[in-house]
Amino acid sequence: MARTSLILLGLVAGFQATGAAKLVPGKGFDRLVTIWLENQDYAKVVLDDAFKDLKKQGISLTRTFAATHPSQPNYLAAIAGDYFGCNHDEFARMSESVFTVADLLESKNISWGGYFEDLPGPGFMGDYSDGVDGMTPTGDWDYVRKHNPFVTFDSVTNQGHRLLQLLSFGDYHRDFAAKRVPQFVFMTPNMMHDGHNTTLEVATKWSRDFIKPMITDKAFDERTLVILTYDESETYEKPNQIATLLLGSAIPAHLRGTEDNTFYTHYSMLSTIEYNWDLPNLGRYDVGANVFKFVADAGGYEHNKDPENAAAVDNSLSYFGILHNETEHVVPIPRPNLKLIGSSGRGVLEDIKKAWPPAKKDRTPYDGSGRVHDAGNPPVYGKENVNTP
Ligand SMILES: *[C@@H]1O[C@H](CO)[C@@H](O)[C@H](O)[C@H]1NC(C)=O
Ligand SMILES: *[C@@H]1O[C@H](CO)[C@@H](O)[C@H](O)[C@H]1NC(C)=O
Ligand SMILES: *[C@@H]1O[C@H](CO)[C@@H](O)[C@H](O)[C@H]1NC(C)=O
Repeated sequence: MARTSLILLGLVAGFQATGAAKLVPGKGFDRLVTIWLENQDYAKVVLDDAFKDLKKQGISLTRTFAATHPSQPNYLAAIAGDYFGCNHDEFARMSESVFTVADLLESKNISWGGYFEDLPGPGFMGDYSDGVDGMTPTGDWDYVRKHNPFVTFDSVTNQGHRLLQLLSFGDYHRDFAAKRVPQFVFMTPNMMHDGHNTTLEVATKWSRDFIKPMITDKAFDERTLVILTYDESETYEKPNQIATLLLGSAIPAHLRGTEDNTFYTHYSMLSTIEYNWDLPNLGRYDVGANVFKFVADAGGYEHNKDPENAAAVDNSLSYFGILHNETEHVVPIPRPNLKLIGSSGRGVLEDIKKAWPPAKKDRTPYDGSGRVHDAGNPPVYGKENVNTP
């Protein structure tokens, strides 16, 4: 009898160990939800009433710059640490050798997912899809692939369990109600709600209503950071400055309604995630990007600084790379720099080292300096064979 109970107990314990993922606490937050809006200049957004309402409840970042124009490369950059020369919104696909935030998170069993409004089904990889909610009866392209960075990467799409984590807003509402929202979440509203086909006001009002239930202190049981950001600015001729708000229960009470003047880019989210959860890095532009100050302060991180060329930041035209649509600007995928130490003090993810074994004469543009690059200020491939055996 006693023996049977012991065996049963053992079985139950076994189920728990392999069952629902255990929440991995972070330094400044335990969950990050990022929501992306489209194409507005910083200067206009900060004057908007709905945005100002939200701003009272969080930290407003006053010096954040997108990576380039148009939309797609900014989404790619945010999860992969580079946009690989992408200068367009057309179909893009990256080989399995390119890793993303998904690999970093999974290395520590941190759950992640994406919710994309009007995605017709889990893991959908098509270019676009009409909405299902009757909101845009005559329109199409409510969901667009160019605003869902995960499906561009074979390292995501070749693994069924990863595709199954790319869901719709209906799934979000279900998971939110059931307290099953993963620890890292990327969300893109449809082309109407994100402002792409509508106006600045439509998108900010939608955001205020949509975000409200998720930023109350009781919305989640764990400290949750909600990042509302734009992909890029509207005016191509100006430096690519965007508005970004940090919201949610993870924001310390005394910081609500304040501004943070630190220099940030889309790579800052990656650097912050790596620091927060003590993760390895991608060996690309994630290394060297500043960590959101309230998270840096929570853990005692002291390396935030302006990049050397911060004053010259423009980020309006894409530099060369494998995804560039003009043949003369296509170059192979740069090697990650396997020697880089990221914000967490840890090195490059082991699986990345395996995928990119040291090779002779291979230079890398990634130097961990945080310098910003665009077509007028292109990446420089270091003189050293950084990865030579
Ligand atoms: C590259 O993409 C840009 C942005 O969509 C477009 O204006 C340009 O015509 C494209 N160039 C080529 C060669 O397809
Ligand atoms: C992640 O979970 C798997 C399966 O439960 C386990 O074998 C592994 O040790 C865990 N890894 C970490 C870093 O917690
Ligand atoms: C959004 O605008 C694009 C053109 O930029 C158009 O092709 C598409 O049908 C529009 N989608 C909606 C939902 O209105």
